[in-house]
Amino acid sequence: MASLTIRKLDDAIKSYLRLRSAKNGRSVEEEVRVILREYLEGSPTPSGAALARVPVVPAEASASVPQPARRTGDGRITLIIGGGIAAYKSLDLIRRLKERHIQVRCVLTKAAQQFVTPLAASALSGARSYTDLFDAESEFDAGHIRLARDCDLIVVAPATADLMAKMANGHADDLATAVLLAATRPILLAPAMNPAMWSNAATRRNAEQLRRDGIHFVGPNAGEMAEAGEAGVGRMAEPLEIAASAERFLRPKPPQPLAGKRVLITAGPTQEAIDPVRYISNRSSGKQGFAIAAAARAAGADVTLITGPVELDDPKGVAVIHVESARQMLDKVEAMLPADIAIFAAAVADWRVAHEGGQKMKKTAGQLPPPLQLVENPDILATISRLKEKRPGLVIGFAAETEHLIDNAKAKLKRKGCDWIVANDVSPATGTFGGDRNTIHLLRREDGEISVDDWPVMTKDEVAVALIAQIVEALRTPA
Ligand code: C5P
Repeated sequence: MASLTIRKLDDAIKSYLRLRSAKNGRSVEEEVRVILREYLEGSPTPSGAALARVPVVPAEASASVPQPARRTGDGRITLIIGGGIAAYKSLDLIRRLKERHIQVRCVLTKAAQQFVTPLAASALSGARSYTDLFDAESEFDAGHIRLARDCDLIVVAPATADLMAKMANGHADDLATAVLLAATRPILLAPAMNPAMWSNAATRRNAEQLRRDGIHFVGPNAGEMAEAGEAGVGRMAEPLEIAASAERFLRPKPPQPLAGKRVLITAGPTQEAIDPVRYISNRSSGKQGFAIAAAARAAGADVTLITGPVELDDPKGVAVIHVESARQMLDKVEAMLPADIAIFAAAVADWRVAHEGGQKMKKTAGQLPPPLQLVENPDILATISRLKEKRPGLVIGFAAETEHLIDNAKAKLKRKGCDWIVANDVSPATGTFGGDRNTIHLLRREDGEISVDDWPVMTKDEVAVALIAQIVEALRTPA
């Protein structure tokens, strides 16, 4: 009777046997016995051709890889694995990306190979991994350019302090940095390093530079470090978090119903100078106007936001003009016309002092306080609503009231000549001024009548999205 030495079988068969035995929880020898039995009993066994197609995958890796139904067109990622202890999590990241039907090709830096092997990355990704800028096999046709371009996104995980420093300074002395420098696709970094390295001034500078260069970040998170007893910000984001973040770059863009529309928005308070150090203003935070600007941008509009002094970051993708006074705000609004839609969410000061002091007013002992004579500011909403030629197609004002909300808002709609009024109760009990929530009543002129829609309490972001949705709807069904 002949004996069979499994070690001497060819690699494809060995690999198939390991895979199958691991899946069925048997030893390889047992698995061979089962196959022979199945064969003798007439069950279908894989043909020689089928065996030849089985990829060479180490059993311990492939047994844990989920094998999703293959779909194409779900995105391609070049994953650059940097040299840090978090590199072991990148192997799990490959699995998470594959579960989402994303094709992954890995590039490992020299340092990364101290932590994980190219073979493990290849086995999990199902594609060859790359390590060398001077690899004759892949570089005969400038393979690093292919790695940089033949993908939808480049993910760097872990992004070490060294890799970030090289990127920020445009180095290209190995395959990973050459790919990153040649990239024309979005780049997502998942930094991982000791908290002291992350908070070091040099790393902060590099991270800031990379952000300015349009590089995206996920993490780092706060938590325990691999180094015993160390904790802080520097832990690499979890693979699921990175995969979810990466997926956002691969999804088809949401519809842009306001594409091609110019939207002008005012926000925040105005400050009316009394003298060089004092001013009259109000408690507006600007949050609602900024949220509307972001929602309009997300709907594809070309947005200009003219804002008084606020403590908010400029919304991404929006042209922001910072002003102080009502008169400056009016000047900028007029300069930015024409627009298709204008939304006046600013809490413009009604009055300014008639004579602004050129020097700081002095308090003199025994004298009465100086009288402040006030004059009315220009009404921006009313001015723009009454324009003949450059009036935007849809002009929306706000009515912030502390009593008789709807009646006052209706009167305002008529008095100012705008098309819609967003009315909100700003009495102190509502917490609307400066808060994150808002209760809105939308008043619209319809066939000579004024309709009133009462909205439930929503966050200011939700109000913004709902308002933009109403605008999209109105543009679709012109009166
Ligand atoms: O008259 P009132 O300040 O209540 O009107 C509120 C609406 O008018 C808001 O849309 C506000 O932005 C706008 N407004 C303006 N210029 C002013 C006063 C108010 O654009 N001077």
